[in-house]
Amino acid sequence: MTVKVAILGFGTVGEGVYRTIQTHESELEALLGKKVEVAAVLIKNNQKERKIAKDVLITTDFNEIINLSQLDIVVDAIVGKDPAFNYLKQAIERGCHIITANKEMFAHHGKELLDLAEEHQVSIGFEATVAGGVPIIQTLRQLLKVNRVQQIQGIVNGTSNFILTEMREKKQSFADALKLAQEKGFAEADPTNDVEGFDAFYKLMVLSRVAFGNAPNWKAVERVGITSITSDLIETADQLGFRFKHVVSIQKEGDKLIGSVRPVLVSKSHPFYHVEGVENAVNVFSDIVGRITLQGPGAGMFPTASAVIEDLVYVSQSNQQNKLQTNPVIEVLPLAAGSVNNFWLISGVSKTELSPSIHPVDQVSDQTFIVETTDEEILQKAKEFPSLSYYPILDGTQILQNKKEYLTVTI
Ligand SMILES: NC(=O)c1ccc[n+]([C@@H]2O[C@H](COP(=O)([O-])OP(=O)(O)OC[C@H]3O[C@@H](n4cnc5c(N)ncnc54)[C@H](OP(=O)(O)O)[C@@H]3O)[C@@H](O)[C@H]2O)c1
Repeated sequence: MTVKVAILGFGTVGEGVYRTIQTHESELEALLGKKVEVAAVLIKNNQKERKIAKDVLITTDFNEIINLSQLDIVVDAIVGKDPAFNYLKQAIERGCHIITANKEMFAHHGKELLDLAEEHQVSIGFEATVAGGVPIIQTLRQLLKVNRVQQIQGIVNGTSNFILTEMREKKQSFADALKLAQEKGFAEADPTNDVEGFDAFYKLMVLSRVAFGNAPNWKAVERVGITSITSDLIETADQLGFRFKHVVSIQKEGDKLIGSVRPVLVSKSHPFYHVEGVENAVNVFSDIVGRITLQGPGAGMFPTASAVIEDLVYVSQSNQQNKLQTNPVIEVLPLAAGSVNNFWLISGVSKTELSPSIHPVDQVSDQTFIVETTDEEILQKAKEFPSLSYYPILDGTQILQNKKEYLTVTI
C-alpha cells in the first residue's frame, strides 16, 4: 500500500517537499502505515535539469497527472491564482486531498476549494500559505476547539521585516536594503507584492477565515506597505525605544471584524520587538489561554516543506475533519471605525497644524510627535494634511504607565 503524491511545481517549495519525502520516508511510513511516493511532478519548462528519480513522471501537462491510475494527494507549489485553482478543483473532483503553499490562489479561492472539498469528502492543507514553517494554522485549529480567538497579529512577510531590520541595524536607505534583499533572494525583481503589503494581506485573509470563519470584505481592510518609512523615522523610533514592524492584524469586536495591514511601532517589551530579518511571528489572543506567540522561519525551502509535510500527515489522517468553523461575521470595519485612544508616532505636520484636535504627548522634532488619539482623529488629520504619516504604537498604553522610560528624545 502506498500514498501517491503529485507535486505541482519544482521550485524552492516543490523541490523541498520532494526531498523531504525522501529524507523522512520512514517517519511518514510509521505515521501513516503506508509508504509515501512521489508519482509525478508538474513543471513549466522541460529544458531545466532536475534531480528527480527516473520512475517519477515529469510533465508539463496536468492532464497526464490527473489521469494517473492512482493519485491520492496533490501538492500545489506553483505561483499565482491560475492555473493552480483550476488544477486543484480537478484534483478534488477526482477525490484527492490537496495541500497548497500558494497564498495568492488560496486567499482568492480558499472558500470555493473548502466547499468543494467538503462536497467530495477530501481534506485541504494550507499551513504553508501563512508564515512558512510556523505552524499557525494547526495551532488555530487546535485552539478553536474551545478557545474563542479575539485577535491575531502577525509579522508574516519576511522580506519587509528583513528590509526594516537592515535599515535600522546598518542605517541603510529603503532602496539599498531592498537591493540587498533582492541580491540575497529574499525579494523578487518586482517587489511590489511584499513591500506594498499584498502578500501580507493575502495571508491575513487566510488567517481570518481560520480564526473567525470568515474573510473580511477586502475593500474594508486598510493595506499599507513599508515604502513610506524613511531612515530618519527608523532612527527616531530607535531612539525612543521602538522598532518598526510590518504587522497584519484582525480582531473581532462583537459581530464585527476590524482588519489592517500596516507598519506599526513596538516597544522592547512587545514579543515582535526581537523578531528580526526574515523571521515571522504571530500573536494569537484568545479568551481562555490569553496570548500565544509563535515565531520561526517564514519562508525557505525546508521550513516551507516542513509545513507541507505536516499537512501531508494531517490530510491523510484527518478523515474530513478540516471543516472550518464558520461564525457569522456581520460587518467588517476599517481602521477608521475605532474610537478608542491609541498612541501614535506621527510625522509630516507642525504642532499648529495638529491643534486644536490633537495634542502631542511628546515632540520629537519640528514635525514629528507622539500623540494619543483615536483612529478617527488621525484619519481626519491625514485627509486634511496628505503629508502626514502615522504609525500606531502597538503596546502604547505602556507609555502612559512608564512615560519617562520611552520619551527621552525631545528637541
Ligand atoms: N519560497 C518560499 O519560501 C515560499 C514560502 C511559502 C509559500 N510559497 C508559495 O509557494 C509557491 C511556490 O513558490 P516557490 O518559491 O517554490 O516558487 P518558484 O521557486 O518560482 O517555483 C515555482 C515552480 O512552479 C513551476 N510553475 C510555475 N507556474 C507553472 C505552471 N503554470 N505550470 C506548471 N508549473 C509551473 C515552475 O516551473 P519551472 O521550474 O519549469 O519554471 C517552478 O518549478 C508560491 O505560490 C509561493 O507563494 C513560497
